[in-house]
Amino acid sequence: MSTDPKEAREPATRVARDALQRPLHDLRISVLDQCNFRCPYCMPEDEFHADYEFLRRSQRLTYDEILRIARAAASLGVSKLRLTGGEPLLDKNLPTLVEGLAKIPGVDDIAMTTNGMLLAANAGRLAAAGLHRVTVSLDSLDEDVFRRMSGGRGDLNKVLEGIAAATAAGLTPLKINVVVQRGVNDRTVLDLLEHFRGTGHIVRLIEFMDVGNQNGWRLDQVVPSQQLLDKVQARWPLRRLDQNYPGEVARRYAYVDGEGEIGFISSVTDPFCGDCSRARLSADGVLYTCLFANRGTDLRESLRVGADDEELTDVLSQIWLQRGDRYSELRRPEVAEAHVLRKVEMYRIGG
Ligand code: GTP
Ligand code: 5AD
Ligand code: SF4
Ligand code: SF4
Repeated sequence: MSTDPKEAREPATRVARDALQRPLHDLRISVLDQCNFRCPYCMPEDEFHADYEFLRRSQRLTYDEILRIARAAASLGVSKLRLTGGEPLLDKNLPTLVEGLAKIPGVDDIAMTTNGMLLAANAGRLAAAGLHRVTVSLDSLDEDVFRRMSGGRGDLNKVLEGIAAATAAGLTPLKINVVVQRGVNDRTVLDLLEHFRGTGHIVRLIEFMDVGNQNGWRLDQVVPSQQLLDKVQARWPLRRLDQNYPGEVARRYAYVDGEGEIGFISSVTDPFCGDCSRARLSADGVLYTCLFANRGTDLRESLRVGADDEELTDVLSQIWLQRGDRYSELRRPEVAEAHVLRKVEMYRIGG
């Protein structure tokens, strides 16, 4: 007999383990597909120009619809939610959604990934609404490099103010996500680490991934984590830390001198599909079971034709039971076809 109280509550057909025996723990919710940045590796300006048609409000899930899906997911074992975009803070009412999510039984971790531009004004309200943690995407502290990597839209001081406000509001431990691209920001990584050492913020260095089809991904722009690790170690000795939880994407290290923690996310050179317990919901209600999926399941349609909560939970459960995704493990970067498959774009599911 199962000793896991969560499993004991669920009927057998609803126990959410996929075809590779991975549980469903983590739901990432994209609240809208728009962004105030144009990072070339995610939403290149020439593609996402003034006439680009983002989702209309009627195409996006309502908060009630998001809450229903999140509740169904929680009944299948999801305890962790992450709000993403595009840029989630372009949604002015986000605290209202967070309040609803925070009331869902079984959910004990609500995080948000943001580019930080609008964070200073919103951190307090979000924390009061029940948000626990924030991750800020910040690729460089060099003004020119940062400007270039945000597509000319970012204001570094605003992002740093946002980080300070989120820290003051208790949205911690705060993580800083850095996508490292060779020849673009790799030479500014040590400065960024130095800035955040001793602050309690956890910097994570991310290998540039072949997500989507529009970011012009090239293998020679990937800086393997091992190379970065060697570079960092040469300056500040590191010691390996254990995983916080099964399926954690970052390899964790501590500075030996006690100045904090950093992480390496090595999806290209050291994939971590084996424990992947994440599902991703796009703003128009498509559920994807892999970051690199080329299709998902339209839950909005089910909701709008009147599916009740039972039916919705069944649909989710079936999707998860059939899941066999492990794109990063199967993909060999040297095989060109792997990254010309049509894949969902990152700005639609927020990383
Ligand atoms: P914590 O809850 O703080 O552990 O956050 P996290 O590490 O799960 O989430 P975050 O969104 O910060 O992930 C950081 C980066 O890792 C993302 O921006 C992606 O680049 C990458 N990443 C996250 N999840 C996956 C995944 O399932 N597959 C792959 N290939 N990359 C992922
Ligand atoms: N490779 C790796 N990470 C990416 N992100 C966006 N595009 C890529 C990519 N091609 C990251 C962002 C942010 C999160 C939402 O996803 O930097 O931290
Ligand atoms: Fe916006 Fe984040 Fe994509 Fe940059 S990486 S364009 S901040 S969604
Ligand atoms: Fe999960 Fe797909 Fe990423 Fe593998 S590639 S870790 S299955 S999201």
